[in-house]
Amino acid sequence: MKIGILGTGEVGQHLARGLLGLGHEVMIGSREAGGEKLSAALAKVGGGVRGGTFAEAAAFADMVALCCLGAAVESVLGLTGAENLAGKVLIDATNPLDFSKGMPPRLLDIRDGSGGQLTQRLAPGARVVKAFNTAGSHTYFKPTYAGGPPDMFICGNDDAAKASVSEIIKGFGWGVVDLGGIDASHYLEAMCIVWVLHGARSGGWGHAFKMLH
Ligand SMILES: NC(=O)c1ccc[n+]([C@@H]2O[C@H](COP(=O)([O-])OP(=O)(O)OC[C@H]3O[C@@H](n4cnc5c(N)ncnc54)[C@H](OP(=O)(O)O)[C@@H]3O)[C@@H](O)[C@H]2O)c1
Repeated sequence: MKIGILGTGEVGQHLARGLLGLGHEVMIGSREAGGEKLSAALAKVGGGVRGGTFAEAAAFADMVALCCLGAAVESVLGLTGAENLAGKVLIDATNPLDFSKGMPPRLLDIRDGSGGQLTQRLAPGARVVKAFNTAGSHTYFKPTYAGGPPDMFICGNDDAAKASVSEIIKGFGWGVVDLGGIDASHYLEAMCIVWVLHGARSGGWGHAFKMLH
């Protein structure tokens, strides 16, 4: 599959590396096609990854992953263009974090809901699946834990889209827990803060969630 990554940070880089490892074609998008951040990300990822603007990465792709600063979602989706996302699965890995009051971050006050719902509202033609936001990006690909494979929590309104994203998550070595429609994003985004709190208290960032039965 061709996958476009909207974001040059750690999340975009780790997702890109994992997706290349699974045999997908990947293009990373940024505000500037020739910018330093994009060049640095492409050099770190390697493996034949391509680069372009946000719009070019989405236009290239069958599936797109939104991996930008949480507070910049509206700007990034505006630059990407709704026409480049229409009908496509859009993974939303972002967390709408507010660091203005220090650590731990709070969730940004998003009108009528969560970051995932905002993404779905701003890209109404896309099939948004919230995923990859409850784990540290350095643990995304084939993590090994004494307690077995961790779980990635997801939600979204389109079952076929969630099935496609679940295939990728399983390929990354994770179980999948589906929490329902995109309105469950609120809880997935709060889980990110639980993850941060535990990291700050335990002094390590290698932990991950697992649902036990
Ligand atoms: N770090 C983790 O382990 C982790 C795990 C799960 C989820 N998350 C979430 O994943 C997202 C990405 O995190 P990250 O640390 O990889 O990257 P980040 O630094 O939060 O975001 C980098 C991306 O955001 C874009 N950006 C920043 N400010 C912008 C603005 N004003 N207008 C338009 N675009 C802007 C940048 O564009 P340019 O390329 O043009 O600079 C870049 O592509 C965040 O929402 C984060 O909360 C992080």
